[in-house]
Amino acid sequence: MVSAAEEKARYLRDALETMNVQRIGKSISWHEHVDSTNLQAANLAKEGAEEGMVVLSDVQDAGYGRLNRSWASPAGGVWLSIILRPKIAIQEAAKITLMGGVAVAETLESLYGLNPTIKWPNDVLISEKKVCGILTEMRTEGRDIQFLILGLGINANCNFEELPEDIRSSATTLRLEKGSDISIMPLIETLLYNIDRLYNVLLSGDTRYIINLWKNRSDTLGRRVAITTPMEKIEGLAMDLDDSGALVIRTDDGGLKTIVAGDCTHLTNAI
Ligand code: BTN
Repeated sequence: MVSAAEEKARYLRDALETMNVQRIGKSISWHEHVDSTNLQAANLAKEGAEEGMVVLSDVQDAGYGRLNRSWASPAGGVWLSIILRPKIAIQEAAKITLMGGVAVAETLESLYGLNPTIKWPNDVLISEKKVCGILTEMRTEGRDIQFLILGLGINANCNFEELPEDIRSSATTLRLEKGSDISIMPLIETLLYNIDRLYNVLLSGDTRYIINLWKNRSDTLGRRVAITTPMEKIEGLAMDLDDSGALVIRTDDGGLKTIVAGDCTHLTNAI
């Protein structure tokens, strides 16, 4: 007997084919329960799974986010990971995360008329509240990227009360924003379509296009921010995003600092 998850995988694969999606979703693995779709996707990638394979789960029992924080993944959300094998330099990989944020924001805008913004590097916000987190993990071999897992978690129809108490003041769900449940399948279809489109742009070498889309949706540029890295905590004005996706900050001594990765807190309202 075909399970509900297998049925959804089949339906999604057919829909993406009809939409002429080129690289993403040629093969799809959908679970009812899984520890983490990122972990599953990484295992499949290690075994040689092709670029574009998508792993989804209705629920994740051990979902995780940046800085190894746990990521609540109850029923009703979109928890998915995509295997990518881009032939780009390791230091260029941050662009994939930025591309993911832009794809989510464009999807939520076109489907629901929302106005999503992006907090550097990868939080998609609606009215300042996080609706989606993105985690990109990479396996390298010498100077090459062997594979990259682009993991996206969208609080779609999750029950708000099932999200951990400590994140509720800074989180939202699509159901809350729209006032009713949204249809999950069109959301996933449109999201994967947009990721495919923007990933193709990235691979064609037009990074500026993606960086500019990100900048236009940025919730971070123009604000005073605090960035915590494993080495230091830096405060200053978020000035720009450079071509590699790093954040350029003007510190209080007037100098410019370029930050490749870190945890970003907004200290002031946007100007
Ligand atoms: C963050 O904001 O810290 C990133 C959260 C990323 C969560 C997604 S859900 C699908 C995929 N599987 C995981 O375990 N994590 C990512």
